[in-house]
Amino acid sequence: MNFTSHNILLNNGTQTLGNSQELLSHSGLWTSIEKTIDLFFPKSIEARAKMRVADLGCLEGGYTVEFARLGFQSLGIEARKENLSKCNYVKSNLSLPNLNFVQDDVRNLPDYGKFDIVLCYGLLYHLNDPVNFINIMSNCTNKLLLLNTHFSPEQDIRYNLGLLNNYLIAPLQKRTGLFEHQKNFRLTSMLKNEGYRGRWYKEWNKKEKTEKVEKLLWASYNNNRSFWLCKKDLTNALHNAGFHSVFEQFNYTGGQIPENYSHFLNRSMFVAVKHT
Ligand SMILES: C[S@@+](CC[C@H](N)C(=O)[O-])C[C@H]1O[C@@H](n2cnc3c(N)ncnc32)[C@H](O)[C@@H]1O
Repeated sequence: MNFTSHNILLNNGTQTLGNSQELLSHSGLWTSIEKTIDLFFPKSIEARAKMRVADLGCLEGGYTVEFARLGFQSLGIEARKENLSKCNYVKSNLSLPNLNFVQDDVRNLPDYGKFDIVLCYGLLYHLNDPVNFINIMSNCTNKLLLLNTHFSPEQDIRYNLGLLNNYLIAPLQKRTGLFEHQKNFRLTSMLKNEGYRGRWYKEWNKKEKTEKVEKLLWASYNNNRSFWLCKKDLTNALHNAGFHSVFEQFNYTGGQIPENYSHFLNRSMFVAVKHT
């Protein structure tokens, strides 16, 4: 089985990406999540056993596994069959009865009830209806949403140049890195979608065959382009959806995540909280 991202330690001592790669459980991305959880939830296994976590667009299940190891009832939701079979392979090689996976579109989250923690990592920027989805997540979250996502830059002259950027500047910058102070994602000019500002990102061709889309293991699923909200629009949408506090979390950098990650990729980790 070819894992593409999550290095997970299995019961027999093997790792899904082999022994030379950093384990997801040791990564800054995971340890920063764990630290945040400890701020808001009791540490006892007994208390955590009564709490539910949803991991949205869970890919190979690495984060879902780590939540289960902490004692939470953990559910990973993933659209692609190939990814889900890797999740189930991981489950069958661990002794974690509180670890479960389903194959579904994340937009069906309400079918699975309410969760104390929702993890939305690397997913929101794959949706064409992010604000609708933020509302869905809010309706399903009792306490904490952990959100790692790209956002759109407020100003970037390259994205006003249309085809010139897409077919000349972006390929050139990709090859040479010339003047690429921020990654060139070939976004559109600034537009509004669902009443909020942002830019569109093309994921795959509209007429792409279903089998090909299935093979794009990290991409969007039921929509061929996605809408990247501007940062302020994103935090406004989170507040408007019912989260009382929204923070940005910075201690995931270091190790494999370079210090310029947030600036270069227009990406950050947000923590949205419901006060009781
Ligand atoms: C970039 S990967 C991120 C994986 C993982 N959350 C992480 O941070 O390592 C995006 C994942 O979301 C899944 N995905 C994309 N759109 C989805 C949808 N509408 N419903 C369920 N899963 C989706 C993809 O198949 C892929 O596994």
